[in-house]
Amino acid sequence: MDPQRPSVDAVQVGAADITEAVIRRFDACPDPRLREIMQAFVEHLHGFVSQVELTPEEWSAAIRILTATGDITDERRQEFILWSDTLGVSMLVDALANPLPGGATESTVLGPFYVPGSPLRAFGESMLVEGSAGTPAWVHGRVLDTAGQSIAGAELDLWQNDADMLYAVQKHECPEDHLRGRYRTREDGSFAFIAVRPIPYPIPDDGPVGRMLSATGRHPWRPAHIHAVVRAPGYRTVVTHLFDEESEYLDSDTVFAVKPSLLRKFVERSADDPERPAGIEGDWVSLQSDIVLVRGEGGAPIVDSGRTA
Ligand code: BEZ
Ligand code: FE
Repeated sequence: MDPQRPSVDAVQVGAADITEAVIRRFDACPDPRLREIMQAFVEHLHGFVSQVELTPEEWSAAIRILTATGDITDERRQEFILWSDTLGVSMLVDALANPLPGGATESTVLGPFYVPGSPLRAFGESMLVEGSAGTPAWVHGRVLDTAGQSIAGAELDLWQNDADMLYAVQKHECPEDHLRGRYRTREDGSFAFIAVRPIPYPIPDDGPVGRMLSATGRHPWRPAHIHAVVRAPGYRTVVTHLFDEESEYLDSDTVFAVKPSLLRKFVERSADDPERPAGIEGDWVSLQSDIVLVRGEGGAPIVDSGRTA
């Protein structure tokens, strides 16, 4: 036999042969976890291609969609996270990584608009850096452990959208610290901040993910929420939302991130309410919400863009 020519056994012809050959090519991968992931990935990817009998035109379209996803992604826009969120992968990874111990605040998506390094603000300080057409909101509560003991010095890292439905990071002309801030709990675990009542908004839908949503008859809307990452030494970090329980789209969040335990009541208050905090003018809303952390380590964001401050 000519030693330059491959043996007949090594020539792969049928669909199952191709899948098997690719899986076997990872047998010698020195990292067992990487080997497991790559072999399962190939098995499922090939299974999907075979199941739907993917055509060359459809595969070319998929490559174009992936290319467009890379092209539109930059420091301010993260289209890969939008795919992860709208296909439910972020929430699936979250469910596997963060089973809920009794009474603890549940986690949900980080989303693409988290920017580390928000300014540290004082108890009760406003997160507004410029004016807003939104309704002022006084948000307060305590950070507790699962036994109900207060946690002093916990950090709440918060961000939300404004009355124009946008986050500061989405707007070139907006001060970058508008409607974001970090707050530390006091000795009794209490925190308070001034925000605006959040409103529903569509995720960015002018790119490949938006084209997928419209081609498949899905809407791009998320129900109203304030984002929070809550950290304290010796406790698992929780990435969560405070959802407005009266919001539209709670039953059809385009990123599948609503959990019933995260729904909160925003109470409407008038301008002459004697409890109106300093720093709030006119009619306002209040929200009381405790956060319960679990002892332990880790609990990092589910999908992190890797964006730096
Ligand atoms: C957000 O809540 O900021 C968000 C989450 C997922 C996709 C887009 C936006
Ligand atoms: Fe959001």
